[in-house]
Amino acid sequence: MIYLTAENMTGGYGATDILNGCSISVDRGEIAVIVGPNGAGKSTAMKAMLGMLKLRKGQITLDNRDITALSPQARVSVGIAFVPQTNNVFTGMTVEENLEMGAYLRHDHNIHQTIEEIYQLFPILGKKRRQNAGELSGGQRQQVAVGRAMMTQPSVLMLDEPTAGVSPIVMDELFDRILEVKQTGVAILMVEQNAAQALNIADKGYVLVNGTNKHTGNGEELLANPVVRRTFLGG
Ligand SMILES: Nc1ncnc2c1ncn2[C@@H]1O[C@H](COP(=O)(O)OP(=O)(O)OP(=O)(O)O)[C@@H](O)[C@H]1O
Ligand SMILES: [Mg+2]
Repeated sequence: MIYLTAENMTGGYGATDILNGCSISVDRGEIAVIVGPNGAGKSTAMKAMLGMLKLRKGQITLDNRDITALSPQARVSVGIAFVPQTNNVFTGMTVEENLEMGAYLRHDHNIHQTIEEIYQLFPILGKKRRQNAGELSGGQRQQVAVGRAMMTQPSVLMLDEPTAGVSPIVMDELFDRILEVKQTGVAILMVEQNAAQALNIADKGYVLVNGTNKHTGNGEELLANPVVRRTFLGG
């Protein structure tokens, strides 16, 4: 059984369904990437997996346990962390305060040890620990957002467009860091607009169209698929 699975997700925000039988899964130590056109339902699929959207149909399991009925907060406490597409840092707080906020569900005394581990993963955050997150560059802010999510010591990390608005060099750096997180055994699910680059580092990819799985395969298969290339990867 795959660690995190979403089967047949169907539902939306009102009368019309945005997700139409969408299924996504990711194992520990794996990167799964969701790509697809704007409005396809990529963020909605992620929200549903986090419990921010009530599904009409479908089932979410984590480590063989049905979590479909759990609240978002309960899902965070069983190991799922989420970095939303927008407004993902507290701009008026320092880098370190942002990381501390990420630990709000923890009651142990090792929070500062985790912060040090995050500074090892993202050295620039250690250098700028006393600076307001609002003063950081886009790529640095994304590192704060990922770092904050890591503060719950998750087994699943969900990232909605972590490289949005950053330069190609910063994107490569972020992907390198995400690969390091994968090496620690975390299951990583990522929505990406930079589809070709993301599929390059992915173990598995999903092309989502109209809330439905259109193509699924490992990163290489999707990159080699002529239909996927022509329709979604720009040739
Ligand atoms: N809070 C909301 N209330 C109502 N409709 C919404 C809401 N959020 C998204 N939608 C609609 O759901 C559909 C899918 O949106 P979603 O944000 O999941 O797409 P996406 O694939 O993430 O797109 P993008 O690539 O632009 O981020 C869109 O038609 C959008 O207008
Ligand atoms: Mg989106």
